[in-house]
Amino acid sequence: MADFEALKQESRVFQPPAEFVRNANISGMETYQAMCAEAERDYEGFWAKLARETLEWHKPFTKTLNESDAPFYRWFEDGQLNVSYNCLDRNLQNGNADKVAIIFEADDGGSTNVTYRQLHQKVCQFANALKSMGIKRGDRVVIYMPMTVEGVVAMQACARIGATHSVVFGGFSAKSLQERIIDAGAVAVVTADEQSRGGKHLPLKAIVDEALEMGGCEGVKNVVVYQRTHAQVKMVPGRDRTMSDVVAGQPDTCEPEWVDAEHPLFILYTSGSTGKPKGVQHASGGYLLWAALTMKWTFDIKPTDVFWCTADIGWVTGHSYVAYGPLAVGGTQIVFEGIPTYPNAGRFWDMIQKHKATIFYTAPTAIRSLIKAADADPATHPSKYDLSSLRLLGSVGEPINPEAWMWYYRNVGGERCPIVDTFWQTETGGHMITPLPGATPLVPGSCTLPLPGIMAAIVDETGHDLPNGQGGILVVKRPWPSMIRTIWNDPERFKKSYFPPELGGTLYLAGDGSVRNKDTGYFTITGRIDDVLNVSGHRLGTMEIESALVANPLVAEAAVVGRPDDTTGEAICAFVVLKRSRPTGEEAKQIARDLRDWVGKEIGPIAKPKEIRFGDNLPKTRSGKIMRRLLRVLAKGEDITQDVSTLENPAILDQLKQAQ
Ligand code: WTA
Repeated sequence: MADFEALKQESRVFQPPAEFVRNANISGMETYQAMCAEAERDYEGFWAKLARETLEWHKPFTKTLNESDAPFYRWFEDGQLNVSYNCLDRNLQNGNADKVAIIFEADDGGSTNVTYRQLHQKVCQFANALKSMGIKRGDRVVIYMPMTVEGVVAMQACARIGATHSVVFGGFSAKSLQERIIDAGAVAVVTADEQSRGGKHLPLKAIVDEALEMGGCEGVKNVVVYQRTHAQVKMVPGRDRTMSDVVAGQPDTCEPEWVDAEHPLFILYTSGSTGKPKGVQHASGGYLLWAALTMKWTFDIKPTDVFWCTADIGWVTGHSYVAYGPLAVGGTQIVFEGIPTYPNAGRFWDMIQKHKATIFYTAPTAIRSLIKAADADPATHPSKYDLSSLRLLGSVGEPINPEAWMWYYRNVGGERCPIVDTFWQTETGGHMITPLPGATPLVPGSCTLPLPGIMAAIVDETGHDLPNGQGGILVVKRPWPSMIRTIWNDPERFKKSYFPPELGGTLYLAGDGSVRNKDTGYFTITGRIDDVLNVSGHRLGTMEIESALVANPLVAEAAVVGRPDDTTGEAICAFVVLKRSRPTGEEAKQIARDLRDWVGKEIGPIAKPKEIRFGDNLPKTRSGKIMRRLLRVLAKGEDITQDVSTLENPAILDQLKQAQ
């Protein structure tokens, strides 16, 4: 979490380099301000013009925004397009056919280039294969794939035929996968035999089998297996086929399915404040518009750039800035299968040097762990590599602390590359608050100002504007094209979660706290205001982890809180009451290990608590409410100074104070 006190004192300002300003797509603050003013003056006109310029429409739209069923907003609704056509065919027509679309680097260091022409062929063949299985417009396809060209192909092929994809991150367990398959009502799953990451092989297909055997997934008629490692895997006759089998003999062209702008492009599950993950539904037109525009605005992308976003396609960042955005603007990008620390912590720097990356976009948690690694092994320090190709750096997923920002700026960017600290969410589809590299003076730890057309503001609990300098709730006042359309299967939850009546029902609630600088109006994100944790840039609900823990037969009660962590941002700390007596010593350690593994199986390894403490009870008020506020203090290892007179059992605090 951001060190908020330190940020208030932050006075370093870094002006955009003159050279950058000269060549930037958005050059200088005056240009930025003029764009903001245009959006203020004619909001719909502003977006309509951009949508016409940026995308190719099969049928042009005449209506820009329909607010009649708010907050279920509709953008460009009478227009028709195809997302895959915009990402691929357009590049074949405008001279990019032989341009490299993807530089793929495998876990083991081998690399291959895929041109737009080749990518188009692969996508068309796979799209035809999906069609031959009877998969059609509107059907849901779950993708459980490693970071590979084929992962991007699977997503683009769904878009091509109008099927709605739901990518599930390869680190989620069989149970999480099964829940998502059921909720989405998937008819097919695309997976790989194994995933190769950091020299280890993960049995993706076996996990799919396990998920499907858990029941409730009878709708899944086809499983396609990309043979990544050629490991022996079980193939269920009539259901499972390899990817090379299904594409064999398929034509390498495929007429795109023209869909309405509002057609659901994808559903992506993310954690909220209740136990059940939410299926965030995105539309086709508005989403692609923003993925493409933010490539131009935030990343200042030019035809000669080599763009690298390190996010996995299982997260929204990998959707907008791997699978769609870079292709929609005809860019060349790196897709990386592995992890930053294999074979050593110099991997990112080695790859930037090797592929001459010009724009690099990663998460603060990766930067922090590479700082530590470089301290421990100077051979992996960025200064040991030639990073002179870089011209722009980006950060995403969690607040970046000023120390990490400065290290990134100096050692990776050579004090010449602006850093875009991009604040956004699964629900927003693309960047919301971020510097523009050729315009915005940078302040370490601040995501600075909203993009033109994004009406971000800070309000109190009743939805009233707060003055700069006063911390409050981050909201967006007007709908924007790439916003979440609904929660799949749960429109009521969509309304309640994002447009709560307490705030008046018209403000989009991001779920984060924020404050604006008194003088500059710059935004600083102060962290989630709900029960969502951010561990290594991964979003996890505390309730989700609590539900997983209490599903274990040993556990009577559990409360999960986050505590600040130097590397992962936040770490998960669980307080657990067993049905039997409270364990101590070695036994406690063993049970804690078992419970961590259990959570790994229930949700996925990313949700394993870093620490588990056992108590005879949890601190509760007389009405039985667990006082998580106090648990947060204990998890940090601090003494409780608050008044605890409302507690039913204050003595329990002493017991829970000690880490086991
Ligand atoms: C946090 C990831 C501070 C925030 C794109 C948000 C950030 C949540 C930043 C969304 C940033 C993301 N500064 N906090 N630059 N970027 N966050 O849905 O709490 O995985 O609500 O989307 O991450 O996480 P999600």
